[in-house]
Amino acid sequence: MATNRTFTMIKPDGVENGHIGAILEKINAAGFRIVAMKLTQMTKRDAESFYGVHSERPFFGELVEFMTRGAIVAAVLEKDNAVEDFRALIGATNPAEAAEGTIRKLYATSIGENAVHGSDSDENAAIEAAFHFSGRELF
Ligand code: PPS
Repeated sequence: MATNRTFTMIKPDGVENGHIGAILEKINAAGFRIVAMKLTQMTKRDAESFYGVHSERPFFGELVEFMTRGAIVAAVLEKDNAVEDFRALIGATNPAEAAEGTIRKLYATSIGENAVHGSDSDENAAIEAAFHFSGRELF
């Protein structure tokens, strides 16, 4: 995958609270092009694998339970400097610390239920996109 792509999920809280449309609008307005997208649900095994790097952290069980409790929107986004610009658009992990106007400031409720995921590196963006999408689902 080219390094101008990142991977995102609108997490179960964002979907449950009816924020899919508003979050996608922010993403479009910030200049990202959606190159893959689907509404799906992660299994426990999916979430344990996707977040495997965090398996020793105290909140791991809570994170897996949260990410599997309902539908998510998974998407691959394209833009110059996609990973860094998208992390800026979503804001800090903890919405209490997120900058005004960021997606987490607007739509997240807590550090555990923070509305969106954004890849933290080009390498992880490629891994995470491949976790959710086959090559022919990427446009
Ligand atoms: S980050 O963005 O990777 O630097 O953030 P990090 O603090 O390392 O957190 C990694 C993911 O774990 C989620 N998280 C939590 N879930 C539940 N409870 C607590 N306390 C908690 N703290 C962090 C956080 O939202 C990150 O998920 P993603 O999907 O990567 O945003």
